[in-house]
Amino acid sequence: MPKERLDKLLSNLGYCTRSELRKNLDRVTVLGEPARKVDQKAEWFEVCWDDEPVDPDPLWILLHKPEGVTCSHKDVGRLVFEVFPDRYQMRKPALNTVGRLDRDTTGVLLLTTDGGALHRLTSPRSQIDKVYRVDLVDPPSAQQLEKLRAGGTLLEDDDKPLLPCAMEVTGPQQVEMVLHEGRYHQVKRMWLAVGNEVEKLHRQRFHRFETGDLAPGEYRLLTPEETADL
Ligand code: URA
Repeated sequence: MPKERLDKLLSNLGYCTRSELRKNLDRVTVLGEPARKVDQKAEWFEVCWDDEPVDPDPLWILLHKPEGVTCSHKDVGRLVFEVFPDRYQMRKPALNTVGRLDRDTTGVLLLTTDGGALHRLTSPRSQIDKVYRVDLVDPPSAQQLEKLRAGGTLLEDDDKPLLPCAMEVTGPQQVEMVLHEGRYHQVKRMWLAVGNEVEKLHRQRFHRFETGDLAPGEYRLLTPEETADL
């Protein structure tokens, strides 16, 4: 990555605006030395702010999405971005969710500032596994399970039949489903299409990412090794 002026680099990372850097320059070091001027050039991994390495570029986050936050930049109520420090919302390019989970859905959610990777991961051609734990209103019947496993069902307002879906029954009213598609409200609409209803929805895995020890609302940054194949 090319070196950039500190004022541009730090404003793109959301630490301050370009004009604010002048009065904050004493908070910045480059390769361990105090920053000299706002147009000094550096790469993000050479820079510290208040003695802490600055956030990586691009930024990749694994969030255990809690209930009650919306995957959107603009909506009524709490937004998923409010979970993070304010500077994440000032990033250029902007931080976005990799696909969406409904407001009441919990579980694994990736976010990134890497627009190209986001496009690849959310493309209909992407074959990424998405594993959901689904609590149902009624016990699933053999017929319902067979229909969804086989694929071919048409969801309301869609003209393309569903792909087959691997599914395991994990409780009297609970299943685990593996999806490769990413349609709007897909899991809820699948169960409605066969005469059942989703009570509670949790994404256990996205690609190889799981929430692990993260409690709802907690997050961690992905490591460079983890983002290498995204
Ligand atoms: N399918 C749904 O219906 N909702 C989600 O949040 C994710 C998948």
